[in-house]
Amino acid sequence: MAYEHIQTRVEGDRVGIVTLNRPKQLNALNNQLMDEMGEALKAFDADPAIGCMIVTGSEKAFAAGADIGAMASYSFADVYKGDYITRNWETIRSVRKPVIAAVSGFALGGGCELAMMCDFIIAADNAKFGQPEIKLGIIPGAGGTQRLPRAVGKAKAMDLALTGRMMDATEAERAGLVSRVVPLDKLMEETLGAALTICGYSQVAVMAAKESVNRSFESGLSDGVMFERRLFHALFATSDQKEGMDAFVNKRPPQFKHQ
Ligand code: CAA
Repeated sequence: MAYEHIQTRVEGDRVGIVTLNRPKQLNALNNQLMDEMGEALKAFDADPAIGCMIVTGSEKAFAAGADIGAMASYSFADVYKGDYITRNWETIRSVRKPVIAAVSGFALGGGCELAMMCDFIIAADNAKFGQPEIKLGIIPGAGGTQRLPRAVGKAKAMDLALTGRMMDATEAERAGLVSRVVPLDKLMEETLGAALTICGYSQVAVMAAKESVNRSFESGLSDGVMFERRLFHALFATSDQKEGMDAFVNKRPPQFKHQ
């Protein structure tokens, strides 16, 4: 399918990459871009050849937020009735294979929120994160006030949401928002390496791990631990569990069949 605001490609036969591509607007996120990204991720998710996905932007901007020009003239009734602007943003949450955000440059407002919707974030050393919506007379509208405190705690989330300041990659890693910081010219190599590592494991176990970690944000500890235990038990029904453990015991590399 031909897309206008994103580019897609497959690397290493198994990693689906979505590159946001509105360079003149610093990848500002409008409905068309978000629809296209949702379609592309759903297609990769449904493709048995694909084991992991990467969402990335340009060197200068992962995404500078929701498209301000597109929403500037909307009234309350417009945004409320149309569930604007974030109605089509949660598609990424329904994707069951892992999605890694490879972030360089600005990840602001909806751009930061989009990165946080991914399963984890690898940042280039020039990355800048922030929720500057307060400067526009609004607040984050795609989960920023909910996911940011879960990632970095209340103090920093309040600081970013109330002052609108940006956080550099070092601070973001220290705060727990990003899993690793790498030199800009190594961002895609490092992220692809992580994605291919994930693709090498049992896809059933990978999907279960993602589902279980995500469950920790939705449930209390006892329920979450019980959920994890049931998934753990269920994995003993897979041939990949037999293969992984037999390979370890016999000191050979495993050959997972993803079943
Ligand atoms: N929407 C629309 N256009 C945007 C944009 C956005 N979020 N961010 C940048 N652009 C456009 C600029 O208007 C400019 O276009 P022109 O060349 O046509 O003037 C172009 O991208 C380049 O931007 P700048 O000239 O401003 O570049 P800079 O390097 O001087 O500054 C920046 C970069 C600090 C990121 C600055 O562009 C900026 O502050 N952008 C807005 C960030 C923002 O407020 N994001 C939150 C949006 S609201 C939101 O996201 C709601 C939500 O929760 C879902």
